[in-house]
Amino acid sequence: MTGLIPQDFIDDLIARADIVEVIGRRVQLKKAGREFKARCPFHDEKTPSFTVSPGKGFYHCFGCGAHGTAIGFLMEFDHMSFVEAIENLASSMGVDVPRDASDRPAHRYDELFSLMSSVEKHWQACLRDDKTAIEYLKRRGIDGETARRFGIGFAPDGWSNILDKFGKTPAAAERLLATGLIIRKDNGKHYDRFRDRIMFPIREHRGRTIGFGGRAVGDGEPKYLNSPETALFHKGRELYGLYEARQALRQIDSLIVVEGYMDVIALSRHGIDSAVATLGTATTTEHLNRLFRLTGNVTFCFDGDRAGKAAAWRALEHALPQIRNGRQVRFVFLPDGHDPDSYVNEHGADTFIKAVDEGLALSEYLIHELSSQVDMTTVDGKARLAETAKPLLNKIPAGVYRELLTGSLADAVGLTPAKIEKMLGEVPGSVTQRARRGTSTLLARRNKAMAGQPSIVRRAIALLLNHPEACAKLDVEKLAGVTRPGIELLHSLIETVQAEPNITTAGLLERWRSDDEGRHLGRLAAVEIPEEEEFDPVIELEACLEHLALAGRRERVDFLIEKQKLKSLTDEERSELRQLH
Ligand code: GTP
Ligand code: MN
Repeated sequence: MTGLIPQDFIDDLIARADIVEVIGRRVQLKKAGREFKARCPFHDEKTPSFTVSPGKGFYHCFGCGAHGTAIGFLMEFDHMSFVEAIENLASSMGVDVPRDASDRPAHRYDELFSLMSSVEKHWQACLRDDKTAIEYLKRRGIDGETARRFGIGFAPDGWSNILDKFGKTPAAAERLLATGLIIRKDNGKHYDRFRDRIMFPIREHRGRTIGFGGRAVGDGEPKYLNSPETALFHKGRELYGLYEARQALRQIDSLIVVEGYMDVIALSRHGIDSAVATLGTATTTEHLNRLFRLTGNVTFCFDGDRAGKAAAWRALEHALPQIRNGRQVRFVFLPDGHDPDSYVNEHGADTFIKAVDEGLALSEYLIHELSSQVDMTTVDGKARLAETAKPLLNKIPAGVYRELLTGSLADAVGLTPAKIEKMLGEVPGSVTQRARRGTSTLLARRNKAMAGQPSIVRRAIALLLNHPEACAKLDVEKLAGVTRPGIELLHSLIETVQAEPNITTAGLLERWRSDDEGRHLGRLAAVEIPEEEEFDPVIELEACLEHLALAGRRERVDFLIEKQKLKSLTDEERSELRQLH
């Protein structure tokens, strides 16, 4: 929906906004060198690790990892939507927000919220009138009180119930479309998205409904249907049941992450109010940020099947960078064939709580999982274990926790922790290591890091974010054919800067805000690039690109040589190989 505000206006606004002023109005900032510091508003801390950089136009907390631009801050701190944050920023700077001339104004958020609320109430009324749906819920152990607490409703069968009732004018139909409640066909006609489904409202932190999950009654396909991504609803951010949990619990000591709507509801029905669910997506960093802002004690409880294990592993990978002292992450795998819903219904709350209490600590799960993949009775197997653990351990910030985990790993493979630490140290240039070793060694490490590791892409991105202007003359063509993680992101970042030479660090972060990969940009932008006398970002960036190009050529040569060995080179490839040599 933000597309209706011209992108160049947004870029310009961010470039001109004074982030120190925006944040300073809400949080007491203190000047520290070129930056400003404060105790982080997003987590509890005694010493300030929240840093605002006026030059780069963004904030970063070294404690909890929260980061973003002025817009992002307004969204997080004041719970504004993107458009509201833009409007707020614009009005504080005394400018009007323009809309694309050809389009009608972007929908007003309050109108969309009130539409969601009306539809929710309508579906609740429909539920009261539908015996089959009530019967279904009863059969699944959901009583009236629980249904009320979660606002459960029922969307009767039919192609235009919602459309007819709530979409009488073209403007109203547009709003239905914007909230994903109806779908537009190629011929311009509309129909209801949710038909013959039990409806679960998904609520944001203030309790306003932003989306729905709908479960087919019976064997309908798909089993679950969610609202699409809309201006209100972002799957990767929301946790189903979090609002209800916060309502029910006076104090949040711990949270349990489960996979499904029904799991959250069944647990709550049994008096366990601390369960939340991701919405059919993997656990994201944003989910974890949210969880850890509320509690240091998070348990993932997934099904014991393969999908559940895969989901748990993804969660572990995302959790590692956020592990620190005082945070406890555990994993519970229910017996095969069970999910929390069926388990708690069959065995009761006490047994479920016991299973959660007996969950594997993150370290146990990590080592257990890795050692099950290798033959631990052989030296080779142990070496491979250490090898696979390396990138994972390197994601953990330095500190007591990391040392403990390194110790456990050392025990498991029968090496000394020092030896393991040394092996870990050999992964070049990871961001955590830079942070750990301080920034002054970064430049000294450059040549070493230039030796062809994936981190070169990260370095290039960090440089680019810190010095967008240095990209003006870069030759992106050099990256053609280079394959390694992040290369596409680098490519499009360079292209963006070249198309818009005045874009700022913050402007770039905003553009990639909702992009999966782009989420990491904030962390890279926070990497201090030591600027010694001879430092020239243009030269540094060119060196990175040159290096990547070289690595790309080398990979191509290797590939062609392999083909040559198999005697399957085409004539063209043969001459290419000669040239490359
Ligand atoms: P019940 O069968 O009602 O007990 O659901 P469940 O929660 O046990 O279902 P399952 O474990 O299959 O799925 C867990 C979660 O994944 C659900 O709550 C949904 O969020 C999501 N999900 C499951 N099936 C689908 C589907 O067909 N489409 C989509 N979009 N999401 C699904
Ligand atoms: Mn289930």
